[in-house]
Amino acid sequence: MTNTVSGRQEQWRAEFPYHWDEDDTITRRELLRFTVYTSGALFAAAVGLAAFNRFYRSRAAGVKPLVRLSELVPGQAFHFNYPDPDDESILIHLPEGRLVAYSQRCTHLSCSVSYQPERERLFCPCHDGAFDPRTGEPIAGPPRRRLPRITLEETNGIIYAKELLP
Ligand code: FES
Repeated sequence: MTNTVSGRQEQWRAEFPYHWDEDDTITRRELLRFTVYTSGALFAAAVGLAAFNRFYRSRAAGVKPLVRLSELVPGQAFHFNYPDPDDESILIHLPEGRLVAYSQRCTHLSCSVSYQPERERLFCPCHDGAFDPRTGEPIAGPPRRRLPRITLEETNGIIYAKELLP
């Protein structure tokens, strides 16, 4: 009769025919070794992908014409997309005449920064972050890293974006 305790145990063993001894076929050492190797492989893959992405992005964008130098007014900004069509960037003609360009993506949580010449800063409205327009370094709010810089070149009166630097 299967309603007794031993009868129910026999039924349970028949439905789940696993034994503790067979569960121990993988030792803790083997499990640890597998975990370490897997973690190492994932870390190496992440580093490789990051390096490839950085190399590819800086190479793929190439040199891009932006604007004629004669169209830039000191103290004003020119907006463009670089290195990809959806990457907002900003070129600033500083009051002293120097040209600088940055990604507009705030290094805190990626909101878009804008140039405020009257306050001499690049401002992020999301959390009141601010960057120095001369260097791209953070000067207020939560950002801790500088804005990615875009190198520029002038040829025959035209300003070109050359490379996005981290
Ligand atoms: S996203 Fe720019 S300060 Fe937070």
